[in-house]
Amino acid sequence: MWAMAAAEFGAELELVEVPEPVAGPDELKVRLLAASVNPFDRKVVNGMLRDSAPHQFPLVPGTDGAGVVEGSGERIFGTFFRRPVGGGTYAEYVTVPATNPLAPLPEDMDPAVAAALPTAGMTALQLVESLGAARSVLIVGASGGVGSFAVQIARAAGKRVIPVGRGDSLVEADALIDLVSADRSSFEANARYAPLAFNTNYVSSDPAQNFGLKGSREALVRLTSLVQAGDLEVPISRRLPLRGAVDVFAGHGPGKTVIVM
Ligand SMILES: NC(=O)c1ccc[n+]([C@@H]2O[C@H](COP(=O)([O-])OP(=O)(O)OC[C@H]3O[C@@H](n4cnc5c(N)ncnc54)[C@H](OP(=O)(O)O)[C@@H]3O)[C@@H](O)[C@H]2O)c1
Repeated sequence: MWAMAAAEFGAELELVEVPEPVAGPDELKVRLLAASVNPFDRKVVNGMLRDSAPHQFPLVPGTDGAGVVEGSGERIFGTFFRRPVGGGTYAEYVTVPATNPLAPLPEDMDPAVAAALPTAGMTALQLVESLGAARSVLIVGASGGVGSFAVQIARAAGKRVIPVGRGDSLVEADALIDLVSADRSSFEANARYAPLAFNTNYVSSDPAQNFGLKGSREALVRLTSLVQAGDLEVPISRRLPLRGAVDVFAGHGPGKTVIVM
């Protein structure tokens, strides 16, 4: 099968032919229709998990995807992260533990839209739920994958949303969602503007401020319901064919980058 893969940590992605994966016990083999790109994928290629998980090479990144289960023909989408790391969704086929967060892909939903949802959509849902009764929220990095969903979900929850883009000043608010700070001091500077603050890069000394996604089938089903009801738009700024997906980490403008097989 064809896949986009890195030959070693830190290497550029290139189109390679690799053997189709074989499903083990309690695993599904899925023919992918689409995959989406998350910053996590780039971090994995750069070796973020090299000391905490076994890897296989060439390293195929990609956690999120949508596809068809071999054998049953069921259409599913969700998060396909598995160990060893490196058999990811930037490929024609993937195998996944059946216990992963996976949900039905509705017949009338574009697989690219479904593939864009899992990590960013579930993160946005759970971050907004963490805000409780806060009436206003600053969202730093609002134009990206998580941010574009969080803005919509927070507004639908009745909150006043203050999107913060590059170069924008912060103002005081009840809560802060910081999707950008990569170190403690910049997060602490932003957190001065709100009594309740979360970051997604584990940079706070207070564990309660470090958000970590807990994926679930229920959250995925909720996201598809929101999309089908017209209550959640899925902004896809780049759609790339698998064979042309060499510069997927180059940035994407508002929303998500999706790879279509
Ligand atoms: N902890 C978790 O469970 C979890 C879950 C999901 C995501 N994350 C992390 O959360 C972060 C955001 O994820 P994402 O999928 O939303 O990434 P993304 O799609 O790359 O979006 C990041 C956004 O932040 C913007 N940005 C960059 N620097 C900025 C600045 N100084 N001020 C304001 N905006 C700025 C970017 O704009 P430009 O396009 O102009 O660069 C982009 O729109 C990533 O680090 C990701 O790894 C963590």
